Amino acid sequence: MTDTLTIRRPDDWHVHFRDGAMMAAVVPHTARQMARAIVMPNLVPPVTTAAMAAAYRDRIMAAVPDGVDFTPLMTAYLTDNTDPADLAAGHADGVLTAVKYYPAGATTNSDSGVTDIAKVQGVLEKMAEIGMPLLLHGEVTDAEIDIFDREAVFIERILGPLVTRIPDLKIVLEHITTANAAEFVSAAGPNIAATVTAHHLVINRTDIFKGGIRPHLYCLPIAKREVHRQALRRAVASGDPKFFLGTDTAPHARHTKEAACGCAGIFTAATAIELYAEVFDELDALDKLEAFASLNGPAFYDLPVNEATVTLERADWTAPEAVEAAAGEKVVAFKGGETLSWRLAG
Ligand code: NCD
Ligand code: ZN
Repeated sequence: MTDTLTIRRPDDWHVHFRDGAMMAAVVPHTARQMARAIVMPNLVPPVTTAAMAAAYRDRIMAAVPDGVDFTPLMTAYLTDNTDPADLAAGHADGVLTAVKYYPAGATTNSDSGVTDIAKVQGVLEKMAEIGMPLLLHGEVTDAEIDIFDREAVFIERILGPLVTRIPDLKIVLEHITTANAAEFVSAAGPNIAATVTAHHLVINRTDIFKGGIRPHLYCLPIAKREVHRQALRRAVASGDPKFFLGTDTAPHARHTKEAACGCAGIFTAATAIELYAEVFDELDALDKLEAFASLNGPAFYDLPVNEATVTLERADWTAPEAVEAAAGEKVVAFKGGETLSWRLAG
């Protein structure tokens, strides 16, 4: 039985850092374990231009603790009015790594998202030409589509036709939650990949209602049936390079989740790499963890792998229940207060 595991330092290909005091509180949790992270642009107002992304990157860097090696990789928020020349210039300058597509109204702070994918055809063609990845929040927003079907319907109606229309576009289907998504991505060409969160490998939709409603397990895309969780677990344990680590760590102050209309988002940065290790251990696939956490993402994004390493050890520990976000404000940590079986050494 493996009791310690040393891997190249991982990267997180999907994080929400927010801004201000919340950002200052959460950035150290990601930076302690991840060398780089793709930072989502859904601030209020959203990060829509290269100049806004450069300014946001500077604010994030100021929140990284001294002596910690961490690089934020920035994204621009796609709108109906995005200027392809600004994206291309930001990409060429190294300010923008990728572009995030939120269907308007799909999730937290997505009101300025794309109202119809036809409106951004020119931008997407430009991105394909310059090799700039498109990161998809893959859910349709139509009120008549059941919330548990929104990802599968997005794949059918939007993603499938998009891949046919612009076959060279690099696409990451973010935070996949269904067998449909895992199957679509593994059958697609090498320019289509997916991130998988820790929480979608750990919970299914029944957990959200265990003994009462559990607002801290509510996120979008919402967790699905157990068969889907099993499909995601098989996908990550398969070693298929199309799947890589993206936590979708999404902090919200406790009172905004424990509310009559609670926010979507699960804060996983306090426990992420530890939970992935636990899942891969349960799947008898610890030998596949390094590729998932540290190799497949850089290969997709054409970035070098990290030279530093981290060591995980099999040892029980209890994660903090919550982290302090600002005076009197707490963010509840996923699996905080519970016993975890792997921890980051050192
Ligand atoms: C994210 C957030 O809070 O910004 N929420 C979530 O449930 N995942 C937005 C998102 O990625 O959908
Ligand atoms: Zn997200």
